[in-house]
Amino acid sequence: MSPDSWDDAGVYRISAKVALAQTVDFITPVVDEPQDYGAIAAANSLSDVYAMGAKPTVALSIICFPSETGDLNVLREIVRGGAAKLREAGVTLLGGHSVRDPEIKFGYAVTGEVDPKRIVSIGGARRGDLLVLTKPIGTGILATALKRGVLPRSGIEAMTASMKTLNRAASEAMRGVAHAATDVTGFGLLGHARNMARASRKTLHIWSAAVPLLPGALELVAGGIASAGLKSNRDGMSSEVVWADAVPEPMREALFDPQTSGGLLMSIPVSKADAFLKTLRRKKVEGAVIGEVRPQGRRALEVDA
Ligand code: CO
Ligand code: CO
Repeated sequence: MSPDSWDDAGVYRISAKVALAQTVDFITPVVDEPQDYGAIAAANSLSDVYAMGAKPTVALSIICFPSETGDLNVLREIVRGGAAKLREAGVTLLGGHSVRDPEIKFGYAVTGEVDPKRIVSIGGARRGDLLVLTKPIGTGILATALKRGVLPRSGIEAMTASMKTLNRAASEAMRGVAHAATDVTGFGLLGHARNMARASRKTLHIWSAAVPLLPGALELVAGGIASAGLKSNRDGMSSEVVWADAVPEPMREALFDPQTSGGLLMSIPVSKADAFLKTLRRKKVEGAVIGEVRPQGRRALEVDA
């Protein structure tokens, strides 16, 4: 696959049966609790491998930490949270690298394995497919509210639990079923949906009322809580979306909210959708049908109320 492809991870075929899927991702703290931050950073780093239907196997850590001023106990807790999440994923940590940096950053370079014939690409969405999303939207809005000290405990817990959840179960469920997939991260739901639309040469039609949201996300964004990333996502994509007039303003904002460790967006053939949603439920993944794939229209995305 060429490095300029839309896919989430780079793929290198080493034999007819095995390809490597490689990715790297590291993030600044999104929650205050160091172990949770470490776990979230790990889940986030593994996500691009899961998005391609691959199984992550080994990882290398990347640590930026203010060693002069920082509390080394905090660093230990971050690393411990990350290591526990890697163990849960069955991934072996091979090593890593740390540098002195005034701003904490943490994450991993991850290598996964996949049968080259079973790679799930971002570009395979077919006309008539249903779009399934496996995590609620709003981590950027809630993290901004947390930084400003206005997020209730229940919001912190919901956001943390969602970001810590591996996309493994969703990834395993979609193998052999999904025509296309990607994970929802910094460009927001609409940014990643746009990438899928472009790579697949289709238009994705989103039913905004069906998009699952973290508790309080719409109220917070209606009250002016939005990250700089949300605004730049929205500004950068205004020419690529056709909006139904009835889509409320806070919902439009939320659909551009940059996600950390967001869910998988998958394009599923209608004939397999019911069984697939049942499989997700059995695996405790809350998959929501949020739209459908249509023939390529004037713009990459259409958003309905
Ligand atoms: Co990705
Ligand atoms: Co990534």
